[in-house]
Amino acid sequence: MAKIGVFDSGYGGLTILKEIRKTLPEYDYIYLGDNARAPYGTHSFDVIYRYTLQAVKYLFEQDCNLVILACNTASAKALRTIQQTYLVERQKTALLKDERSKPVNVLGVIRPTVEAVPEITKTGHVGILATPATVSSESYVLELEKIANERVKELVVTQQACPMWVPLIEAGEHNEPGAKYFIGKYLRELLTKDPQIDTIVLGCTHYPLLKDRIDEWLNYRQEIGESEFPVPKELPHITTIAQGELEAESLRDYLTRHPEYREPLSKGGTCTYLTTENADRFAQSASIFLDTPIVAGHIDW
Ligand code: DGL
Repeated sequence: MAKIGVFDSGYGGLTILKEIRKTLPEYDYIYLGDNARAPYGTHSFDVIYRYTLQAVKYLFEQDCNLVILACNTASAKALRTIQQTYLVERQKTALLKDERSKPVNVLGVIRPTVEAVPEITKTGHVGILATPATVSSESYVLELEKIANERVKELVVTQQACPMWVPLIEAGEHNEPGAKYFIGKYLRELLTKDPQIDTIVLGCTHYPLLKDRIDEWLNYRQEIGESEFPVPKELPHITTIAQGELEAESLRDYLTRHPEYREPLSKGGTCTYLTTENADRFAQSASIFLDTPIVAGHIDW
């Protein structure tokens, strides 16, 4: 029997796992956080690809037939290469050995997020907040261009890298007073570049942990208006998009369309939590993010 693997560089993927388990509670899951090497978002392509591939292989060895990269950085930098090289090679090798290998696949978080954007924005001005690696990959810009063409809707996309947000969350400092400075800094930079933005994609799975504070800052901006920011008189109301529910719906749809992945899945409703860091520390923080106590295990590669 098979499980669904959910991978992130650290705690961020828990925001996706939580929604997936609400939507598809019957399946068994393995969550893997590579906390020892987080953050990924400031690494180069080669490093992110190598780390992500290692995690994917590990989860396949643990009997996962589907691995969700619950990480935008890994989705942006490693997903395509894993699909086009590693998965293709794996299948070829199995054919040569005349083995009937069970089907496996790796899915990312960017496309399901992008699909929701044209329905939400009214001004067509969209902001992307993400890690430096996701921003430099231009994955969101390219995917939004494609979707704009498909829906015949014009979209103006502005990106903002937020290199301090993941370290704050991984260190458990994101609700401390000092975090406010960095939250305001990147939002101000984004909205100064394009004051017409009415839709902001939280393009990193860690960021929903800051969503309340981001929305608080955006409301504050709304109240004080022009006095502090170079913004038009009529400020557009800004909707922030978190990815959890979108990813969960997309996975449900995928499993409906792909019985070859759905049928082998075991239905115990369990989740095993694994981390490359200290297991107790992971369990303590993860329990807060998930609003429920969990037990975690440590893995050595
Ligand atoms: N949660 C991740 C993402 O969605 C990873 C961030 C990081 O490790 O820098 O991009």
